[in-house]
Amino acid sequence: MAEAHITVSELTMSYGDVVIQHDLSFTIHRGDIFIIMGGSGSGKSTLLRHMIGLQRPAKGEVCYDGKNFWRANEGERQKILRKIGVLYQRGALWSSMTLAENIALPLAEYTALSQTEIDDIVSLKLALVGLAGFGEYYPSELSGGMQKRAGLARAMALDPDILFFDEPSAGLDPITARLLDDLILHLRDSLGSTVVVVTHELASIFAIGDNSIFLDTDAKTSIASGSPKDLLEHSDNPKVRQFLTRGEAVDRPPPSGKVAHA
Ligand SMILES: Nc1ncnc2c1ncn2[C@@H]1O[C@H](COP(=O)(O)OP(=O)(O)OP(=O)(O)O)[C@@H](O)[C@H]1O
Ligand SMILES: [Mg+2]
Repeated sequence: MAEAHITVSELTMSYGDVVIQHDLSFTIHRGDIFIIMGGSGSGKSTLLRHMIGLQRPAKGEVCYDGKNFWRANEGERQKILRKIGVLYQRGALWSSMTLAENIALPLAEYTALSQTEIDDIVSLKLALVGLAGFGEYYPSELSGGMQKRAGLARAMALDPDILFFDEPSAGLDPITARLLDDLILHLRDSLGSTVVVVTHELASIFAIGDNSIFLDTDAKTSIASGSPKDLLEHSDNPKVRQFLTRGEAVDRPPPSGKVAHA
C-alpha cells in the first residue's frame, strides 16, 4: 500500500461567510504527483493556501504524516513548513534581489550552511532549471518563463519533502512547459518528493499526474478524483469529460457540422 503523506478530511474553505469549497476529502501518497484541477475561480489556489498553512480551514483537517497541521503547536507547524517548497501563482521572486540572492534567502534563513556552501547550492539549483550563469540577473531582466523557472529553483532550495506549484507552466511556450514537466518528474524521481500541482494544461496533467482532484465551481466541492488517465477513460461526469477533452473540441469541428443557434 502506498504511504499517505498528506490527508485532507472534510475541509471547508471560506472567505468570511462565503463558502468557496466544502467537504473536500482526499489523500496524497508519498512520491505522487497530485494535480488539483478545476475552472478559474473554483478555489484551487485557496486550497493550496489551506494546505501550506496560510489560511485556516472553516472546518476540517489537513494532516502531514498523520500529524494534524492546524492542531499542532507553533514549533511542530514550523517543522512541517520547513519541509515544504512553494511556487506561487504570482510574485515568486523579490524584485530588489538578484536570482542568486533570491535562492540563497531560504538557505541563509533556515540552515547553518557557510556562504561557500550556499553559493554551490545556488549554482546547482540554477543549473537544474536551465539558468546556469544567470545568478547576477535581477528578475526584471528575465523573461516570464525564466522568472517561473527561477521561482522553481527557489522553491527547491531546501530540498523540500513536498513541493507545491500553482500554475507552473502558465504563460510558458509548449517546449518550456514540457521541460518544466520533465523537471518536476525528475525531482520526484531523484528526491522522492511529493508534488502538488495546480494546472489547467492538459498535456501536463496527463504527462505527470499520478492522481488528481477536480473542484467544481457550482457544486462547490470535488466532483471527481483519481488518475487523470482513468478519469479520461471512465468518468461519465460531463464537466470532467469536457475539461479533459478540451483540446479535441478546439482542434476539430463538431462532427455534425451544424452550428448551434442561440
Ligand atoms: N482574499 C480573498 N478574499 C475574498 N475572496 C477571495 C479571496 N481570494 C480568492 N477569493 C475568491 O475565492 C474564489 C476562489 O479563488 P481562487 O483564487 O482560489 O481560484 P482559482 O481556482 O485558483 O482560480 P484561477 O484558476 O483563476 O487561479 C474566487 O471566487 C475568489 O473571488
Ligand atoms: Mg489560482
